[in-house]
Parts: sequence; structure tokens; C-alpha cells
Amino acid sequence: MQDLFNEIYKNKTVLVTGHTGFKGSWLSFWLNQMGANVIGYSLQPSTTPNHFELLNLDMVSIIGDIRDIENLNQVFQTYKPDIVFHLAAQPLVRYSYSYPIETYETNVMGVVNLFECCKKSSSVKAVLNVTTDKCYENREWIWGYKESDPMGGYDPYSASKACSELITSSYRNSFFNLNEYQKSHQILVATARAGNVIGGGDWSIDRLIPDIIKATVKSEKVIIRNPNSTRPWQHVLEAIYGYLLLGEKLLNGEKEFADAFNFGPNDDDMLKVIDILKMSKECWSSIDFEIINSNTLHEASLLKLDSTKARLKLQWKPKWNSKIAIEQSIDWYRNFYENGEVFTSKQLKDYIEQI
Ligand SMILES: NC(=O)c1ccc[n+]([C@@H]2O[C@H](COP(=O)([O-])OP(=O)(O)OC[C@H]3O[C@@H](n4cnc5c(N)ncnc54)[C@H](O)[C@@H]3O)[C@@H](O)[C@H]2O)c1
Repeated sequence: MQDLFNEIYKNKTVLVTGHTGFKGSWLSFWLNQMGANVIGYSLQPSTTPNHFELLNLDMVSIIGDIRDIENLNQVFQTYKPDIVFHLAAQPLVRYSYSYPIETYETNVMGVVNLFECCKKSSSVKAVLNVTTDKCYENREWIWGYKESDPMGGYDPYSASKACSELITSSYRNSFFNLNEYQKSHQILVATARAGNVIGGGDWSIDRLIPDIIKATVKSEKVIIRNPNSTRPWQHVLEAIYGYLLLGEKLLNGEKEFADAFNFGPNDDDMLKVIDILKMSKECWSSIDFEIINSNTLHEASLLKLDSTKARLKLQWKPKWNSKIAIEQSIDWYRNFYENGEVFTSKQLKDYIEQI
């Protein structure tokens, strides 16, 4: 498989927190393909089936809690990672309304614990904290949000991720200051903000594509609450590619990349939930849906990311539009349920061919 990152990850020890999750498993797979020594730190996979176990990766998988700083620190001291991709989080908005304490403990104290371990580590050179487009104060405006826009967060999840951003910025100023780089410390820290991502291997609750798939395999209709909600939709590989590009720059010691980066789809590539359903049905005719209006929780109606910075500085841009992302995603699940195949490797090759 072609290496797009100048072999920077080959033989590097890479700590991925959240490796048992949807994004973390795709990231671990790609890193593994490039010859990285991948160490994962997460809770047990939360669903059966799950992408991580289906991949059966040759990596070190540690089941541990990000809130347990002693255990986490032990992992840093034992495995001596060169770079850390931090994806461990409670990532669900609706769940965060029911369990705000768990959400804040995991997403806020989790990142504090991570940076404290980095401070004590003699091996870490780069940290990428994965947050979200929801970290921005949502003004319900039509323009894309830029990295310099204020942080906010209406619901506990969004606020916890805004906190995670502020904490990252604070650690970068206080302990990993760029003026002190290669003097009193050797760590470059960045954050990555992407929107809703889709792809094969996600069985989480309260996410559109997994909800569609779970209903379809039970021969049921998927119930849709907000058919006209518009969101940026992108394939998980788009975000992962951005994270790996950013990680490469940090490992190379390029200080100007120790900053926040948006990774969103093209401006004209926003789709309504109803459009996603129709496109999904075109890919798998068994898919069926029903629209009801029962949602009482606050849901922001529009959120776009301005990814100019990633385009100009990282030469990152989306390769698959929403339609292709949906086709790839539905294709993954259809192959899994109809033929028992895991299409991850094939889809990563297809994606890399587009770069
Ligand atoms: N999926 C999306 O659309 C999306 C969009 C924007 C941002 N994100 C962010 O990307 C990251 C990964 O999200 P995902 O979609 O893969 O979620 P996921 O739920 O599939 O995975 C979450 C991972 O975090 C781990 N985790 C949760 N609580 C933990 C704890 N207390 N200790 C250790 N590990 C813990 C889980 O075990 C799992 O490995 C999260 O930070 C999320 O906020 C996701």
C-alpha cells in the first residue's frame, strides 16, 4: 500500500487512545499498514459486532480507562510512544444529556490526564487531540467556522469538547510553549476538528448510518427525527487522512502546525438527513424509513467548517463527496451482512488511489 506520509510512521510507536472505537479502529488499521508499532488504550469495544475486533490487528491493545491516570501513565512509561492520537471520548450528544458527569470526566479530565502523562514522558514528540466541529459556539449562521472563531457548546458533549480545546491550548501555552520547543520540552501539540463522519464498521447508538443499518438487518424501518437537518457528512477516511498529515508535520518538528485545524467537506457538499436516506436506499434496496417529529432535545440546525487552513497548509482536501461516502459506507455494511466480508482494506486502497 502506498505510503503518503514519507514513511514517517514506519517503525514509530504510536499511541492511539480510543482504538476500539469507530475512528480509532480505522486509524489503527491505516497506521498498522504503514508499519507503525500501534499501541491502543481504550475501554472494551462497546458494541457487538465492532470494527476493531473484526480487523484482528497485529497491535498492542490495552483495555484501560482514560480517567485512570496511574494506569495511563504506566502505558506511557512502558511503551514510550513517539506520537499520541487522542480519540478516547464519550462522543454522543444525546448520551451526554443523560450522563453529563461521565461525559465531562472522560472528555475533560481525560485530556488533562493525557497531557500530564505527556509531561512526564521522555519519548513523546507529538500529540494530536481529536475534537469536533461542535466545539465552536454555534451561531446558526451560513458561513463556515474558522479555527479562530470562539469556542462554545450548548449540550454537555459539545461543551466538553470545547473544554478539551481550551485545555489543549492552555497546555500548549503553559507546558509545551512553542518558544520553549527543543529547549525545555520536545512536544508539539495540535487539535483536529471534523464533523460527522460515516463509514463501515460503526454500530454506535444515535448515529444515522448505524441506525439505518441496524434497522435494515432486522427488516425494520429506521425512524428519523429531523429529516431536514443539514450537516456536513464525510467519510471517516477523510478525517483520518487529515490527522495523519498533521501528525507527520508535528513529528517533523514543524512548529507552525502545532495549532487547531478544521477538516470539513466541500462547502457545496452539505446534505439533509432525508437525502442521505434516499441515497442509502439506492445502494441497498432493503433500507426503509419513517419520519416522526418527536425530538425535544436542542439540536443545532447548521454547522459548516471552513477548511481553508488545512487545504493551504496541509494540502488536504476531501477526495470523496457525500454521495461516494454514503455509497462506500452502505457497501461496507452490505458486504459484511451479505458475504461476511470486511471491506476496510479494499476501501482504504480505493481512497489512497484518489490522493
Ligand atoms: N464519529 C463522528 O462522527 C465524530 C465526529 C467528530 C468528532 N468525533 C470524535 O472522534 C473521536 C472518536 O469518536 P468515534 O466516533 O470513534 O467514537 P466511538 O464511540 O466509536 O469510540 C470512542 C472510543 O473512546 C473510548 N473511550 C470512551 N470512554 C473512555 C474512557 N473513559 N477511557 C478510555 N477510553 C474511552 C472507547 O472505548 C472507544 O474506543 C471522539 O473524540 C469523538 O468526539 C467523532
